[in-house]
Amino acid sequence: MQLEDIKNIAVVGAGLMGHGIGLAYALGGYRVTLNDLNEAILDKAIANIKSNLEMLQEHKVISKEAISATLSRINTNSNLREAVAQADFVTEAVLEDLELKRKLFKELDLYSPKQAILASNTSSLLISDFGSEVKREGKVVITHWFNPPHLVPVVEIVCGNNTSPETAKVTYALLKKINKIPIRVAKEIPGFLVNRVQMALIREVWSLWEMGIASAEDIDLAVKGSMGLRLASMGPLEICDLGGLDLWFKVAQNLFKEINSSLEPPQLLKEKIERGEKGLKSGRGFFDAKAKWEEKVKERDTALIQMLKLLYWAKGK
Ligand SMILES: NC(=O)c1ccc[n+]([C@@H]2O[C@H](COP(=O)([O-])OP(=O)(O)OC[C@H]3O[C@@H](n4cnc5c(N)ncnc54)[C@H](O)[C@@H]3O)[C@@H](O)[C@H]2O)c1
Repeated sequence: MQLEDIKNIAVVGAGLMGHGIGLAYALGGYRVTLNDLNEAILDKAIANIKSNLEMLQEHKVISKEAISATLSRINTNSNLREAVAQADFVTEAVLEDLELKRKLFKELDLYSPKQAILASNTSSLLISDFGSEVKREGKVVITHWFNPPHLVPVVEIVCGNNTSPETAKVTYALLKKINKIPIRVAKEIPGFLVNRVQMALIREVWSLWEMGIASAEDIDLAVKGSMGLRLASMGPLEICDLGGLDLWFKVAQNLFKEINSSLEPPQLLKEKIERGEKGLKSGRGFFDAKAKWEEKVKERDTALIQMLKLLYWAKGK
C-alpha cells in the first residue's frame, strides 16, 4: 500500500480523542467515517467537531466555506462492519482496556479491506499485547495523538515487533500529509516517548506539592512561566546545548539523588481522590474548580491556536 492508495479513514471510538482525530484527517482532506456505540454519542462528536471548526474560523485559521466542506467529508455509522468496510486506514480510539482493544482488533481484521492499516491510539498499552492475533500483523501500528488532536502537531508512531517497514513508512507519510509532526519511536516501550517525559515531570511536581515546598498555585505558575513557555520554542536537549553540557552534567550529579524516584504516586494524592476530589469533573482537585470544563478548554485552545500561529503555521510547518 502507498500513501496515494489511502482515500478513506475510519475512526472507531468517537469520544474525546476520536472526534478530534477524525477532524484532523478531515481537515487534511480525507473522507472520514466515525464509529461509536450509538447515534447519540456520534451526534455529540459531530457537535464537538462543528464547534472546533467554528473556533478555527473565528481565529481565521480556516474560512467559513471550509467549515461546511470539512463537515461534508465526515460521516458517522454506529455499525462497525459498515463503518470500516471501505476504510484504507483505521484508527481505534476506544477506552483504554486491553481486552476491549484485543477483541476490536480482531473485528477490524475481519471487517476492513485486506490492505487497510489498523492503528491504535492507546496511551499505555503495547500493540504486541492486543494486535498480535490479527492476520495482517505487519499492518498494525500505534499512532499516539495528543489532546486536542486537531491542534497538537505531534503524533507518535510506535511499531510492534511485527509491524512492517512499509506500514511505518505509509503511516508517517499520511500524518505528514495532514500537517502533523510524526515522531518515530524506535522501540515499543510503555509510555512511548512523550508520556514518559510528562510523567517524570508530574512525579516531581506531585512530590513538591506533597512536601509542601510550594502551593499548588505557585507550582503551576512556576512551571508555566519558566520552562513551559520556553519549551514551546526550544527543546530540552537544545536547552542543554545552549547552557553547556558540562554545566548540566554537574547539576544532574548534584540533583538526581535529590529528586523524587518513588515507584508509587503520593499517599496524599490517593487520599484526595478517595475524598472525591478528582479535579474539574468533581468540582475540586488541586484547586477549587468553579470554572466550567468548556470554559477551561476554550481558554486552552485559544492559547494553543495563538502559539501554533506563531511557532508553526506562520513558518509553514
Ligand atoms: N484523553 C487523552 O488525553 C488521550 C490522549 C492520548 C491517547 N488516549 C487514548 O485514546 C483512547 C480513547 O481515549 P478517550 O479519552 O478519547 O476516551 P473517551 O472515553 O472519551 O472515548 C472512548 C469512546 O470509545 C467508545 N467505545 C467504547 N467501546 C467501543 C466499541 N466497542 N466500539 C466503538 N466505540 C466504542 C465510547 O463510547 C467512547 O465514546 C484510549 O485508548 C486512551 O488511552 C487518550
